[in-house]
Amino acid sequence: MREISTLRITILTGAGISAESGLRTFRASDGLWEDHRIEDVATPQGFAADPALVLRFYNERRAAARVAQPNAAHRALARLAARFPVTLVTQNVDDLHERGGSDEVVHMHGSLTGALCAECGHRWPAPAVMSPADRCPSCAAPATRPDIVWFGEIPYHMERIWQAVESADIFAAIGTSGQVYPAAALAQHAARAGAHTVELNLAASAVSHDFAEHLQGPASQVVDGWVRRLLGDAGA
Ligand code: OAD
Repeated sequence: MREISTLRITILTGAGISAESGLRTFRASDGLWEDHRIEDVATPQGFAADPALVLRFYNERRAAARVAQPNAAHRALARLAARFPVTLVTQNVDDLHERGGSDEVVHMHGSLTGALCAECGHRWPAPAVMSPADRCPSCAAPATRPDIVWFGEIPYHMERIWQAVESADIFAAIGTSGQVYPAAALAQHAARAGAHTVELNLAASAVSHDFAEHLQGPASQVVDGWVRRLLGDAGA
């Protein structure tokens, strides 16, 4: 029998965890995909067709993320990781987990803080504002793009993520709609591998049936409560 504080916890977060920090989610009625077509701003083809439009979209996201502050849910997950072996996987491209105290965050969809050369693959810290004229510091091609995974591209760190899902005692998904794969498949995979699965969300996601437990409400409240319960159970 495993000591309770050695329970391995794998967590997947989505845009809902940052909603109370003032960042728009994608699929709400006032979400980002209401104002922008995915094909235009979140695909390699969209970038090839109109790099200025794509860079403007992510410049706006970067500016919004910079002024946003982590909320109680981000901070609670950092407290949890101080006590348990936690793998924190996020689909979010903001850095609110890091600023909320989490040291190690697996950004499966990339990050607004990174720039990537579409020509040679070189990576460097993103400036606040990117423009199509920016040149790669390594190969000098004017091919700067945000280091963000677009539709049609393969998410980052998948091998590590599948391993963390397979070895998890508890798998939690927080504030994600379960509409984008492979992230949406992680819960089913975790359940089959024997994890206790819990969904924390304002509303049922598209894959709610893959979870054994459901905690409904705003992340700042339900995540904080869930973490307190785990820390309490661990005698922390
Ligand atoms: P979505 O916008 O699809 O879903 C947000 C989820 O958060 C929904 O299930 C909401 O019910 C929930 N939610 C909203 N406010 C909340 C709150 N205060 N507390 C708790 N839950 C709340 O965002 P994601 O699931 O993250 O990918 O989207 C997944 C991917 O689709 C994104 O990473 C992005 C997007 O297209 C790319 O751009 C490649």
